[in-house]
Amino acid sequence: MTDFVAFDPLVRAQRAGEAVSIRPATASDAEALSVVMATRGGDMDGYREQARGLIERLPVLSVAEIDRELVGYCGAQPFVIEPGREPELLIAGLTVVPVHRRRGIAARLLLDVLDKVHDSSAEEPVFSVINAQNLASIRLHEALGFEEVGRAATLARIEFTGGEGVLLRRRPAARRAAATDS
Ligand SMILES: CC(C)(COP(=O)(O)OP(=O)(O)OC[C@H]1O[C@@H](n2cnc3c(N)ncnc32)[C@H](O)[C@@H]1OP(=O)(O)O)[C@@H](O)C(=O)NCCC(=O)NCCS
Repeated sequence: MTDFVAFDPLVRAQRAGEAVSIRPATASDAEALSVVMATRGGDMDGYREQARGLIERLPVLSVAEIDRELVGYCGAQPFVIEPGREPELLIAGLTVVPVHRRRGIAARLLLDVLDKVHDSSAEEPVFSVINAQNLASIRLHEALGFEEVGRAATLARIEFTGGEGVLLRRRPAARRAAATDS
């Protein structure tokens, strides 16, 4: 059983536009963040602890807000992706609540996190690990300049449901290309 959304390239909702604001998470977001996390299913107490942990630990953690309600989050942190590698910048926990999906919010969160990461580590690539079955998230990352660089049963200590995860990398050059395109 997974919480991945159905892959449907054609279904889009109206863009969130100026209704959404993206800002850094603060300690007072812990409860609201745990509510967003719980939309993926599971135990609320566990999510409360995880939310507090993310806010304390992650050097970059952005939240999306509509009418003062948290509707999504995304972070990044240095992490050892596979044994033997040095810690590398890894995207952590990209989620948007179901009712606001397909409005461009995850893309804006991810871009915000990438901007913040690149502000401090301009020449370092950024990685993301995604279940191979989560085609929607893979498509989202590819649209923002990530490319697949590997597959494995375990990545970043995650053992993937279904047996396979995908490692994606976004090189700094992808950012420069995006800036030139726009
Ligand atoms: C994956 C997730 C974060 C996407 O959030 P979102 O706000 O709906 O995504 P966006 O609206 O920013 O989508 C941006 C692009 O991603 C791709 N995409 C997103 N959802 C998709 C879907 N269901 N099917 C196909 N492509 C999809 C599309 O290319 C989309 O662009 P388009 O709408 O112009 O076609 C959200 O569905 C979610 O929280 N899912 C559950 C948790 C999860 O799987 N997180 C990712 C873990 S790595």
